[in-house]
Amino acid sequence: MKKLIAYFSSSGNTKAMAEKLAKATGADLFEIKPQTPYTRADLDWTNKNSLADYDTIFLGFPIWWYVAPIKL
Ligand SMILES: Cc1cc2nc3c(=O)[nH]c(=O)nc-3n(C[C@H](O)[C@H](O)[C@H](O)COP(=O)(O)O)c2cc1C
Repeated sequence: MKKLIAYFSSSGNTKAMAEKLAKATGADLFEIKPQTPYTRADLDWTNKNSLADYDTIFLGFPIWWYVAPIKL
């Protein structure tokens, strides 16, 4: 059976795990890359003000084959 590991990783942890999993399972690897790269500020999870202007965030996307669409 053919297997694929599709992953997104911003600082390398998920990538390292995906590579280990690929080695262990013989799966192909595919890295999902953001169209616009995340900045250091985007990834600063200690910044409590990053979403401070919002009380509620609505996230919209269609369902394609039961999951959120990702372009492979
Ligand atoms: C903006 C941001 C938000 C995060 N939120 C969470 C969280 O809610 N819970 C959690 O366990 N880890 C959270 N993390 C930590 C990441 O999930 C963790 O560092 C992960 O291993 C990063 O994977 P990567 O190196 O493949 O990008 C967050 C990291 C970032 C940058």
